Amino acid sequence: MKKIAIVTGASRGLGYATSEALAKRGYKVVMAMRDPEKNQSEINKLKMKDLDVTALKLNVADEKSIETFCQNFKKEFGGVLDVLVNNAGIFIDNEDGGDSSVYKTKSSTIQKTFTTNTVGPFLLIQKLLPLMIDGGYGRIVNVSSGMGQLSDMNQGYAAYRISKTALNVVTRVFSQEVASQGDILVNSVCPGWVKTDMGGKGADRTIEQGIKGIVWAATLPKGGPNGGFFRDGEKLEW
Ligand SMILES: NC(=O)c1ccc[n+]([C@@H]2O[C@H](COP(=O)([O-])OP(=O)(O)OC[C@H]3O[C@@H](n4cnc5c(N)ncnc54)[C@H](OP(=O)(O)O)[C@@H]3O)[C@@H](O)[C@H]2O)c1
Repeated sequence: MKKIAIVTGASRGLGYATSEALAKRGYKVVMAMRDPEKNQSEINKLKMKDLDVTALKLNVADEKSIETFCQNFKKEFGGVLDVLVNNAGIFIDNEDGGDSSVYKTKSSTIQKTFTTNTVGPFLLIQKLLPLMIDGGYGRIVNVSSGMGQLSDMNQGYAAYRISKTALNVVTRVFSQEVASQGDILVNSVCPGWVKTDMGGKGADRTIEQGIKGIVWAATLPKGGPNGGFFRDGEKLEW
């Protein structure tokens, strides 16, 4: 039977490419996104390639939307889940000038970023992990960032950095929770600096390079690492 994967923020960028890559590896992929209708033509491009993808509405910054998404997912896919890629994310520090100085960062920017980048993934894991425990198998990938690395912390972009450091805590907490509950692995992955809408044209990596480590963590064999932080499959310091 095909493994089932959920990828959040699948409308574009790394999420779209990860969905395509997993579908090409034979997964049934649920592409979770805010506006499936708006992105229908992009989803159709994957279907035209005979890839098994379905779009499902999800706003990770809205707890009710997360609840509805999980209910709809369970109804449509029979309560089985093998892979969850928490990819959806925002990077909005530039909007209030918080890129240059931490003194310009608004609390609303921190809260909005935290809700999307940290609380959303937390709630999705909390609600969906029981399906993996029931099935005795699961791979959870939290798409984090080197900008959240405590051992390599820099100035600026405080909201984004805080949200990704905290996302790494989400990885650690759940990885410890599942450590003795079957073949379930929870890891953080940094894709590097990637040419997407978020990364911009000046980024030094292609989307193909960026998703490599995400797909690696989503398809780890039994006995693979649990509770780690990786880029391209190589361990990063926290
Ligand atoms: N690009 C980089 O250099 C880089 C580096 C390190 C880490 N990352 C991380 O990689 C992940 C993907 O980034 P990307 O570069 O592909 O960014 P992107 O091109 O800006 O795409 C972001 C994706 O997240 C979705 N999203 C944002 N808020 C959402 C919400 N509330 N609910 C559901 N979906 C939401 C967007 O959906 P809409 O289309 O609806 O807006 C879009 O699909 C992020 O977590 C980012 O922090 C990226």
